[in-house]
Amino acid sequence: MPQFHQQTKHSFMSIRKNSFFLDWRTQPTTYKTYPHFQQCFKIEDYEALEGLNLIGGITFEKEYPEGKYYLRTVPSAGALFPCEVYVQIRGVKSFISGVYHYESKRGILTLLHEIDSDGVEYYFPSKAKQKGFVFLISAIYFRSSWKYRDRSIRYILLDAGHQLGTIYTALCVMGTPSNFAFDFDKLALNETFGFRKDEMFLASVTSAEETPKDTIKPKLTFPYVCGCDHLETNTFIEEAYAQSANYSDEPFTPPNFFQNIPKEQLKQAIINRRSIRAFRGAMTSKESYEFIVQELFEFAKSHNIDIFYTLHRVEGVQEGLYKNGTLIQEGNFQEKSRYLSLEQNLGGMSAVTFYFTSNEVEKYQKVSILSGFIAHIIYIRCELQGVGCSGIGAYYDDEAKAFLNTPNNILYLLAIGN
Ligand SMILES: Cc1cc2nc3c(=O)[nH]c(=O)nc-3n(C[C@H](O)[C@H](O)[C@H](O)COP(=O)(O)O)c2cc1C
Repeated sequence: MPQFHQQTKHSFMSIRKNSFFLDWRTQPTTYKTYPHFQQCFKIEDYEALEGLNLIGGITFEKEYPEGKYYLRTVPSAGALFPCEVYVQIRGVKSFISGVYHYESKRGILTLLHEIDSDGVEYYFPSKAKQKGFVFLISAIYFRSSWKYRDRSIRYILLDAGHQLGTIYTALCVMGTPSNFAFDFDKLALNETFGFRKDEMFLASVTSAEETPKDTIKPKLTFPYVCGCDHLETNTFIEEAYAQSANYSDEPFTPPNFFQNIPKEQLKQAIINRRSIRAFRGAMTSKESYEFIVQELFEFAKSHNIDIFYTLHRVEGVQEGLYKNGTLIQEGNFQEKSRYLSLEQNLGGMSAVTFYFTSNEVEKYQKVSILSGFIAHIIYIRCELQGVGCSGIGAYYDDEAKAFLNTPNNILYLLAIGN
């Protein structure tokens, strides 16, 4: 297993020994803003971009004495929102072909660089020009490490997976296909984008038509803009990222997980999605459960992810421990799942608590990101069914591994229910 996974495990003792005081006034900003003199475009003014704000727009606003609090279409560990999205647009009518930064708060695209024969495709194994959209997901790690320290190397990957999920779902609403790619030269691309180790590329989604022409390297390096108002360097995270960033992998088109869902209904589910804060402990119907999990175990397996789960409250379905849809032990494991999720009630009061696991070493980043992606599909399907859902990034690693009796790393937990 990657050394950094091993070194960022939670245990009953580590949680009690390593608590530290967090001064909320020192939280870094959660938005990256490019200088005002750069040309920017309001997404809602462009027909060709209709639906694009679903990839990360603000969907919830609350006022507190300390200030306003915003939530987005994408969930995030601790609502710290480390991810940023960039999009290259090529050959889309009434739009300048170029590389843009997406700013979720104002719903704008800021033009960073106009493209022609050059483009971000240059950093992918196939350098072929893509006519359409190429989305690039990055993370500004300090937004997360400010609170979660070294363990945030895991959270930024899971958050990137949810970000991938929101882009995928938004593209389903926009009626255009998605192609996922993890194999691109992220370290070189970080340099072109002017990142100074504080921001790092993790994944990409292409929704485009491939042309026979190859691209050349972007003609300039983009200006550096810090995504936080202050920055504390964490060399553990920087090294963990650099060691695991580049790996070979085939791009792929995920299945259509929202087949037969009317677009307007899907759009509303994206907008209304929230993390449930407490389950009532009511039963979830078998139909909802089957709708939520359909095709997901096969998809996960095809990328070397095993999904275990403890099932507690689904009408007409045997309570017990399951692996990839198959019952492996009957019994009531709700107290076990509550305890393993750092004693959070969400883990035990759920209908089902999922454990995403994998033995991948080289593609550790990919399986972590895809765990976040699958979890996101579950979030949206739950919303469509009126079922609650919450990610659980905090759990006792080794005890969860021992309970599941697996050599796999435990990457993420997710609770669903009513
Ligand atoms: C990777 C990840 C880990 C999370 N871990 C927890 C957790 O351990 N406990 C919890 O109550 N919520 C957890 N959440 C839910 C977040 O707190 C929630 O997404 C955030 O507050 C934003 O709210 P929203 O999802 O309603 O938009 C997690 C979310 C993500 C994406």
